[in-house]
Amino acid sequence: MIGNITNYLGKPFYEAPNCAIYNVDCLDAMRRIPESFVDLIVTSPPYNIGKEYEQILPLDDYLSWCEKWIAEVYRLTKCGGAFWLNLGYISIPNRSKAIPLSYLLWNRMPFFLVQEIVWNYGAGVAGKRFFSPRNEKFLWYVKDSLSYTFNLDEVRDPNVKYPNQKKNGKIKVNSLGKNPSDVWQIPKVTSGTNRSSRERTPHPAQFPRALIERIIKASSNIGEIILDPFIGSGTTAIAALQLDRSVVGMEVNTGYCQITADRIERFLTAPQQMRLLEGEFE
Ligand SMILES: C[S@@+](CC[C@H](N)C(=O)[O-])C[C@H]1O[C@@H](n2cnc3c(N)ncnc32)[C@H](O)[C@@H]1O
Repeated sequence: MIGNITNYLGKPFYEAPNCAIYNVDCLDAMRRIPESFVDLIVTSPPYNIGKEYEQILPLDDYLSWCEKWIAEVYRLTKCGGAFWLNLGYISIPNRSKAIPLSYLLWNRMPFFLVQEIVWNYGAGVAGKRFFSPRNEKFLWYVKDSLSYTFNLDEVRDPNVKYPNQKKNGKIKVNSLGKNPSDVWQIPKVTSGTNRSSRERTPHPAQFPRALIERIIKASSNIGEIILDPFIGSGTTAIAALQLDRSVVGMEVNTGYCQITADRIERFLTAPQQMRLLEGEFE
């Protein structure tokens, strides 16, 4: 499993069975790991928009930094493996208020792009002179366009409108549900006194766990190794452990590493029923 990761990266900031979290710069750390080490990478990098965990770079510098860490992601991905990259929007003075980062990055890597998934996250800021933004993208890449994991039955949507519809006398709809499509409606993690999500941590850009669970189920198998080089509050780790995968997380900020470590501890010590239903939530 991930036992030998310590040969390359040393002692982790936090470890648990099938889990190692490193307080590192991910570019430096990934360069120390041998090729073809992981089955699936799921991540959301800084978007260069001035969040508390990033320093804004000139656009060209930001894009070339992305090229460098994505090149390492490519090298580390096994032959049948996949890379799921979450990207939002940036503004470019005098050119665009909100250009999708995916337009600028999608072809700066040797992966094969299978699909763009639209994550429609529900609540958000209200626009006055533009439509209220309600989506981010996931770019789903694979290393080998002819051979990759896609466990559709694991992620089918049981909410079917006409479950008894027939064709030539046979029920047409798959009994496990329908294909969930390339638009995913999954609420974002919210803050606020009365509307805070139960899974919320102090991290300012936390993924909802349901989103990452769908990706991990669809694109990997039990026992495989998942890497998140920008793990933030540890959502990818919680989702991977819940689904019996192994996980390596990297995070440059020590405070966020601690949030991740505490969250995994809480998750691992929660009764099984809680973990399944609500995970680590209070
Ligand atoms: C968009 S957030 C990820 C949030 C995460 N998906 C979650 O659910 O909490 C990006 C994270 O990358 C971290 N980061 C920024 N530069 C980094 C680097 N060079 N190496 C590792 N982590 C980095 C930031 O501190 C931040 O926590």
